[in-house]
Amino acid sequence: MQLPSSAPDLVAPNALLVEVAWEVCNQVGGIYTVIRSKVPATVQGWQENYCLLGPYFAHQAQAEFEPMTDAELAADADPFARAVRRLRAEGVEVHYGVWLVTGRPRVVLLNPYHAYPQLGQIKADLWRHHGIPTPDHDDLLHQVEAFGLQAKRFVQALAAEAAEDAAQPKVLAHFHEWMTGVAIPDLRREQVPVHIVFTTHATLLGRYLAMNDPNFYDHLMQVSWEAEAVHFNIETAVRIERAAAHGSHVFTTVSELTVRECIYLLDRIPDAVLPNGLNIERFVALHEFQNLHQQYKAKIHEFVMAHFFQSYSFDLDKTLYLFTSGRYEYHNKGFDLTLEALARLNYRLQQSGLEGQVVMFFITKRPFHSINPQVLQSRAILNEVRETCEAIERQVGERLFYAAAGATDYKLPELGSMVDDYWKLRYRRTLQSWKTTSLPPVITHNLVDDHNDDILDFVRRANLVNNQHDQVKIVYHPDFVSPTSPLFGMEYGQFVRGCHLGIFPSYYEPWGYTPLECVARGVPAITSDLSGFGDYVMQNVPSHEDKGIFVVQRQEKSFDESAEELTNMLWDFVVQTRRERIMQRNQVESSSEMYDWKNLRVYYDRAYHLALERS
Ligand code: G6P
Ligand code: GLC
Repeated sequence: MQLPSSAPDLVAPNALLVEVAWEVCNQVGGIYTVIRSKVPATVQGWQENYCLLGPYFAHQAQAEFEPMTDAELAADADPFARAVRRLRAEGVEVHYGVWLVTGRPRVVLLNPYHAYPQLGQIKADLWRHHGIPTPDHDDLLHQVEAFGLQAKRFVQALAAEAAEDAAQPKVLAHFHEWMTGVAIPDLRREQVPVHIVFTTHATLLGRYLAMNDPNFYDHLMQVSWEAEAVHFNIETAVRIERAAAHGSHVFTTVSELTVRECIYLLDRIPDAVLPNGLNIERFVALHEFQNLHQQYKAKIHEFVMAHFFQSYSFDLDKTLYLFTSGRYEYHNKGFDLTLEALARLNYRLQQSGLEGQVVMFFITKRPFHSINPQVLQSRAILNEVRETCEAIERQVGERLFYAAAGATDYKLPELGSMVDDYWKLRYRRTLQSWKTTSLPPVITHNLVDDHNDDILDFVRRANLVNNQHDQVKIVYHPDFVSPTSPLFGMEYGQFVRGCHLGIFPSYYEPWGYTPLECVARGVPAITSDLSGFGDYVMQNVPSHEDKGIFVVQRQEKSFDESAEELTNMLWDFVVQTRRERIMQRNQVESSSEMYDWKNLRVYYDRAYHLALERS
């Protein structure tokens, strides 16, 4: 029996918090995960005093947003609703309602296009007041700047409403990333009474430089931000980012690694680091997540049978599923290092005479024309094989039952004779049309640019092309895994559960959710000391290897040294017994709770308290 718990304390009893992000009700990348997964913990700490603010895009909103009716709005007396009414009265298009995610937070959405008629003025003001130039014809910049103006107006309206309240609550506005940060310089210039927090999840220049400079970390201290911003054609966004960083009362970022970038590229030392967490949902029964692993692994088996067994077969019970996933940034995401280590692992396995194989999945996003028809067809024929087998099974089952009931002796009849010729022929024909002598393809789709693809280049050069004798097989799936995909037909999270190990040895990764998403599901993961998460784990989680998190050293190590270390990690993983893997998954899963927002929210709370003291 559970005792009723008393209402938890509010983080700040007399303050209103509005959290602003481009990815509220609008999934683009990692910030969506931050905001969405944090909702339950934030709502718990702020209750009625919390509201999210994001851009209104009709298509996305349809799926995730439930508007409040006019009657509900009219009856709502809290300051957020009053601010909405105030803006509407001024002619601004404001959508107000609930974000349909766990925690059901209140949300305000503003339509950037609605402010497009004022774009000329917005751009002129940004230039005149803040020295931020905006080129013509860049739609994202236009959306961002139009949204910035509206966000500023909303915060202004909220401050005005708060001032009319007897309790005189303070207003905290927390902006994520430069795309919303564009509102900050004007809030300061117009001296709106609001306490501003700005969080950057990466610096724009950092990302570009890391992608283009192999010695990014050595050169970081000497970068001339202005010249590089012009060079990469991102001057406007970089200037917005700097204005937001400098204009906020409290400036924060997500990891120690980005702190360095902020210092050298934005010229402000962050006041705090706010690590990213997840909303960890654990099962009551411990074995439940192990069962799910088994269940989703069976679905991956189906894919693997369709993909490989057409050419040759192997023992699925001795097969391990490894994967990586993320944006297609070959170098930044460490795909290069991963491939090198896989090639070395393949060699070692062959030399060792050990049985079994590894299937490695690269799940990323690249422009493609279609799924490779051969892959699709194989999948379809395998389904037919299954149907044929099931039909035979039914027929034999039925006939065997009659035979058994009427039997005069106890000998098992010859089962083959119970199958009609029709099914025998169909069985043969289906298999015949399926089996092929060509190798299983590495890539599942037809890429738009098949000739300039780093992953494909590597596997061709290293001859890691799914030869029968290769014990490391590669499947490159240049699209996200989704329940509607004919190849996997499952959620990404289910795919993760079905795998054995996630590999994410990034070179540049301000935080990196992918390994954490593995851990949350009880799947061990490899990260690197150049990813925010890896750095966090090294500093905060003692004996993290025992909890199934492995950190490849990339700082001050050569590519070759890191590749060797990663190869050793993979080797140690693949030689484990099943029993050891099961125990490891238990360790991983039971450690996952420390990354729950319930525990990590405290960093946000501290930043908010600091901001409330400053203004
Ligand atoms: C889970 C299931 C077990 C199964 C095991 C396979 O733990 O509960 O029944 O044997 O997964 O583990 P493996 O690492 O070989 O996929
Ligand atoms: C950015 C970073 C990524 C991080 C995410 C959420 O997209 O590149 O590493 O996980 O923000 O903070």
